[in-house]
Amino acid sequence: MNYTITLVPGDGIGPEVVRATVRVLESTGLHFNWHEFDKTGTDAVEQYGNPLPDTILESIRQNKVALKGPVTTPLGGGFKSVNVTLRQRLDLYANVRPCKSIKGIKTPFENVDLIIFRENTEGLYSGIENYDERLEISDTIARITRAGSKRILAFAFEYASREHRRLITIVHKANILKKAGAMFLEIGRELAVDYPHIEVNDRIIDNMSMQLVMYPERYDCVVTTNLFGDILSDLCAGLVGGLGVVAGANIGDGIAVFEAVHGSAPDIAGQNKANPTALIRSGIMMLQYLGQPEIAAVVERELQAAYLEGSTLTADVGGSSSTDEFSEYLADRVAARLL
Ligand code: NAI
Ligand code: MG
Repeated sequence: MNYTITLVPGDGIGPEVVRATVRVLESTGLHFNWHEFDKTGTDAVEQYGNPLPDTILESIRQNKVALKGPVTTPLGGGFKSVNVTLRQRLDLYANVRPCKSIKGIKTPFENVDLIIFRENTEGLYSGIENYDERLEISDTIARITRAGSKRILAFAFEYASREHRRLITIVHKANILKKAGAMFLEIGRELAVDYPHIEVNDRIIDNMSMQLVMYPERYDCVVTTNLFGDILSDLCAGLVGGLGVVAGANIGDGIAVFEAVHGSAPDIAGQNKANPTALIRSGIMMLQYLGQPEIAAVVERELQAAYLEGSTLTADVGGSSSTDEFSEYLADRVAARLL
């Protein structure tokens, strides 16, 4: 099999973790033909006047699958987030972020196994913002549609059912957001009827934040709107070892972009220090998506073994190895199994 995949290295630590992930994916013996686009964000603005050139979107539409590093978004003004734009333009409505404890990383909890399903195209990220200069008033509209809510909830239920998960928690703020929050919750409860084998409950977002920090083992699948999902996924990353180890996938109908939960980490960029595990695990999700579950399982097993063995880990998880050392080590382990 030969897979043609769009590759977007991004900026900050992006090119470093993307290189590391490509190294590990190629060590499986599968053949990848990478369509690489090295200019996004600020670099692309300088060269093409557009932070997300149309050629990238066209390539992903054609190949149907992309692997992507993080892209920095200017704070306050400047261009709109490349990441948000990409998700919206390609209608990648489901952001799936599994957070599972790894043996070998010391954390307060040992048995966390959560999957966050974040609505990925609407809510507070709809981009409907206005600032009235005269009155000095800013308005941001959190547009939530019935169709948008229904498809992310349905996606979560289908996924949970297929993966034999036990519980779905619908997270909302329906006490205050009487319209949007209530609609999201109501659709979730309607769908639940068709999945009698999955337990369903709901939590208000503020309580849920505390619950996850104190009793993460009580939860399983979490489905929520865009902003809540963004925040909760970093919180859950913190439960299992940090942003360096948590993968993600942006999925639409017949199209998917795989990227880690973390951002461009400017504080450690260019130092060969970033943990590529998060993107490698996004790569494992990509292998599953491409119909290579056995190979995906081998890479995941070797990754777990590398953590358990513990000799070659990056600094964020208590080791002293570089990005490249870790990925070389893992790639060698995978190649020894598969080649
Ligand atoms: P961040 O996720 O880049 O970094 C937060 C903290 O986690 C930093 O201390 C960083 O060093 C650490 N960290 C993140 N990934 C790591 C890794 N792989 N290994 C070791 N340590 C890691 O979040 P921050 O600093 O809030 O955002 C930086 C930029 O990234 C912003 O411009 C933001 O807009 C962008 N961003 C992009 C995303 C994307 O491309 N999908 C997602 C999140 C943020
Ligand atoms: Mg985020």
